[in-house]
Amino acid sequence: MATAIPTKTVTVNAAFLQEIKEVNQDLWRLLADVRRMCDSPATIDSAPRRFFGLVEELRDQLALHFALEEAYGYFENPIEVAPRLCRQANELRAEHHDLYLLIVDFTEASELLTHPNRVIGSVLTVVKQFQEFDERLKRHETRENELIMEQYGDDIGVGD
Ligand SMILES: [Fe+2]
Repeated sequence: MATAIPTKTVTVNAAFLQEIKEVNQDLWRLLADVRRMCDSPATIDSAPRRFFGLVEELRDQLALHFALEEAYGYFENPIEVAPRLCRQANELRAEHHDLYLLIVDFTEASELLTHPNRVIGSVLTVVKQFQEFDERLKRHETRENELIMEQYGDDIGVGD
């Protein structure tokens, strides 16, 4: 029998969450590098070790980024929070775990590209895997930025 998991009251610290995003330039630079290589798969084909190295760094930076966001950008049991914002904050915080599992899988697939006898077509499979991850990450970032703006609005009393 499934047990209902109580939803925690959680919200974001808009200023901290925004600052974490702005400060972490290494992460966005790595993400841009990996995107660029995925946009022209021939560059991965000719330098799979370089690609794998970037992907490993991206995985580690992303883990750090999520940990910082969760430690300083989100907080539990606020005195008052609109239920809709609380629901969104809960969903977004939980997405970090899913996104991390995706980047771990993608890193493992990228490592296989460095093997001399890799499967034909594996570069394109890995590129497709990255694009799916990237779409989800972009959606996550957009929603988190919207939540930051809504939280600012809510703080000055113009929210719902
Ligand atoms: Fe996030």
